[in-house]
Amino acid sequence: MTNQGVAGVPAANLGPVICVVGARPNFMKMAPILRAMAAHVPRVPVLLVHTGQHYDQAMSGRLFEDLGLQRPDVNLEVGSGTHAVQTADVMRRFEPVVDAHAPSCVVVVGDVNSTLACALVAVKKGIPVVHIEAGLRSYDRTMPEEINRILTDQISARLYTTERTAEDNLVREGIPSQHVCFVGNVMIDSVVYGRASARSASETLQACQMDPTVLSCPAGYGVVTLHRPSNVDNAETLRALLEALAEVAGRLPLVFALHPRTRSNIDRFGLAGLVDPLRMVLLPPQGYLEMQGLMAGATVVLTDSGGLQEETTALGVACLTLRENTERPITIEHGTNTLVGRDRNAIVAAVEEILAGRGKRGRLPELWDGHTAERIAADLYQWLVLRQARTVLNSVTA
Ligand code: UD1
Repeated sequence: MTNQGVAGVPAANLGPVICVVGARPNFMKMAPILRAMAAHVPRVPVLLVHTGQHYDQAMSGRLFEDLGLQRPDVNLEVGSGTHAVQTADVMRRFEPVVDAHAPSCVVVVGDVNSTLACALVAVKKGIPVVHIEAGLRSYDRTMPEEINRILTDQISARLYTTERTAEDNLVREGIPSQHVCFVGNVMIDSVVYGRASARSASETLQACQMDPTVLSCPAGYGVVTLHRPSNVDNAETLRALLEALAEVAGRLPLVFALHPRTRSNIDRFGLAGLVDPLRMVLLPPQGYLEMQGLMAGATVVLTDSGGLQEETTALGVACLTLRENTERPITIEHGTNTLVGRDRNAIVAAVEEILAGRGKRGRLPELWDGHTAERIAADLYQWLVLRQARTVLNSVTA
């Protein structure tokens, strides 16, 4: 494909941009980027690769539909496994795709195993890696995602950040600031995209054959998601969290959208008895539009998800993060997020504060404006063309 030149740079023949998705939190980040690339003039050629890390209709297929995401051009179908097996399988299956398509770069988002695996394959083949949502740090190296973030950033050539502190983190780790570009948060592009079609909480409950009147309480309702291994893989930790949630549910009804890992651990550890079905509605993993509607109508969201911390800040809904740290400090400094940890009294007290009308109101962080993907597409195109022009110049002068 021939592209027109940009700002005096000669026309370029760019190979496709390979965009990688793998797990649920990747889809809402990549969808706006693909739309922006398709709308970019000249059009940026794209190949969408799904690693298949998440494969259920609820964790994957339905999100493609909700987000208007094109069908993947390639599905590596790696499925579940230990971290080593999953990462290795993605690498083995991704390598021939890179060989076959000679991409101009590989774009990865977020911090899941597929992010790191594909970045490693690309960099070792001399293909530049572009990381979206770079520089976030929890400074907790027991989190698999923290390892994925640090390593992916180290081998990326272009790094797009969601908040200004991310660049400070990267520079501290030796990454030149000219490789970093602050663009805002693509998650918010998806929130804006989905706003008009978000499903109401009562529609969602009805679709799950649940009685929506469970949520009619003067205090409103709360939404819960938990899936971090540090919260749900240990029986005692999960028990303590469910007990805290049962106490909260005594004050306002809760809707708990269960990740498959959490559902299976509740059963495996024999903790189902801690859930009062009249106060805590357990739902299967929800689609994007259902989650947006559930959160938008909620009094409070209790979660250990990174994405929900950001989405609640965008929606102006109070968020209590049931973790000891967050890699997204701006949601605390500017947004509606409060880090409450896992202590039962702290969780219940924080909910009481919100019910008393003293929840954080927050404001939108800089550049969380729904136009981040357009900024990425524009910068990326220019960066690729300049990079190609430099390569041509070097080969001529060599
Ligand atoms: C992964 C990401 C995490 C992200 C989360 C969102 C890593 C290291 N972790 O964690 O950062 O927040 O996705 O969900 O990449 N399962 C299904 N169906 C599926 C996918 C998974 O039933 O479609 C079950 C399997 O039992 C699997 C388990 O969920 O073993 C965990 O899946 P996995 O992809 O290993 O990690 P997540 O916990 O989902």
